[in-house]
Amino acid sequence: MRQLASPVELGEVVFSEEDIAAAVARLGDEIRRRNAGRPLVAVGILKGALTFTADLIRALGDYPLTVDFMVVSSYGTGRTTNTDVRILKDLDQSPSGKHLLIVEDIVDEGYTLAYLLNNLKSRNAASVQSCALINKPFHRAVNVEPDFAGLVAPADCFLVGYGLDFQERFRNLPHIRHLQAGLGATT
Ligand code: IMP
Ligand code: MG
Repeated sequence: MRQLASPVELGEVVFSEEDIAAAVARLGDEIRRRNAGRPLVAVGILKGALTFTADLIRALGDYPLTVDFMVVSSYGTGRTTNTDVRILKDLDQSPSGKHLLIVEDIVDEGYTLAYLLNNLKSRNAASVQSCALINKPFHRAVNVEPDFAGLVAPADCFLVGYGLDFQERFRNLPHIRHLQAGLGATT
């Protein structure tokens, strides 16, 4: 487990607003093509996928779609990942018989996505697909891949912005940047 000590500072922009918009548009096209008009429930995973969900559903403008949300916590207050995934807020509507599209910010070790796929399938969803804005395929601990992935993160980075946080900060940046450890960082 890696721990990042304060202070931290923002590093270079990794994905600009234009990069993100192009990825979201491409994902919207792929989701339409593969689902061919079948009604979907977009399940936004808060808080990280807050901005991505808002943009993706608009990219799917006239597609038959409803939106629901789950709040899960998958890591602690620092730069550490945790295998312990908890549902803090469940779906409002039963997933039974529905075609679900999990909308995630980022897939890293894969614990969160694997947990959500198992959980939703076990509740008799008709199908469960997943879409992640960012794929971090370098430290996968669970054998899981999103069905739709927008952007591949550089190796060994921690990203903030466009919904992604470090200790709840930086979600409001319109682009995605590196977070750098300041002096005094520990591992
Ligand atoms: P996983 O369970 O390891 O795949 O972790 C997924 C969750 O960890 C994501 O939904 C994020 O909330 C968080 N996470 C992983 N990498 C980053 C990052 O680079 N920046 C911000 N959050 C991250
Ligand atoms: Mg998240």
